[in-house]
Amino acid sequence: MSASNQLRTDHDQVRRLEKIISKCASELYKGTKIPFSDLTKITIVISEFVDTIHHSREEDSYFPCVASYDTLKEEIRKFMIEHEFGRNIARQISHHLKRWKNGEDAQEPVSRYLRTYAIFLHDHLNKENKFFDIAEAEVLSKEEEIEMYEQYRSVFAIVKKVKELIADIDYLENQPWAKN
Ligand SMILES: [Fe+2]
Ligand SMILES: [Fe+2]
Repeated sequence: MSASNQLRTDHDQVRRLEKIISKCASELYKGTKIPFSDLTKITIVISEFVDTIHHSREEDSYFPCVASYDTLKEEIRKFMIEHEFGRNIARQISHHLKRWKNGEDAQEPVSRYLRTYAIFLHDHLNKENKFFDIAEAEVLSKEEEIEMYEQYRSVFAIVKKVKELIADIDYLENQPWAKN
């Protein structure tokens, strides 16, 4: 395995999440009842898998390693801004979900920010997949790819956490609102 492949594998899981979020938003707009526990689970997977684990893999090692060759810096800068944009939307989802749970009328903003988040993910993943192809083919050495991959796999707590979060994605995909 290589770092580029690990990040692509992460993206396959994030794609599944993107579809769940998009479906969730459109079902909420239709008035389908979705349990708060499922909505909360979505916010947890966003925060822990996308923001904490996956974006850290990109921000803390992959991007700096590519940038150390003094190339693709503008693309990396844009991705960092997009990560921040994603974090802001995620905060809005959690904020309005909390209001909704407290009895306020916040279903519309929750639906709207979920839909925005799904669009963000779709666009961001497409751009990064192209970036990984270029970085892999033209920039990173085999040794760097292996070294970063091993670094990703060396934190046992994170590898275990990813398994749990993928199980959460499995669970969400199998809820009636996600399958109808
Ligand atoms: Fe990213
Ligand atoms: Fe990514």
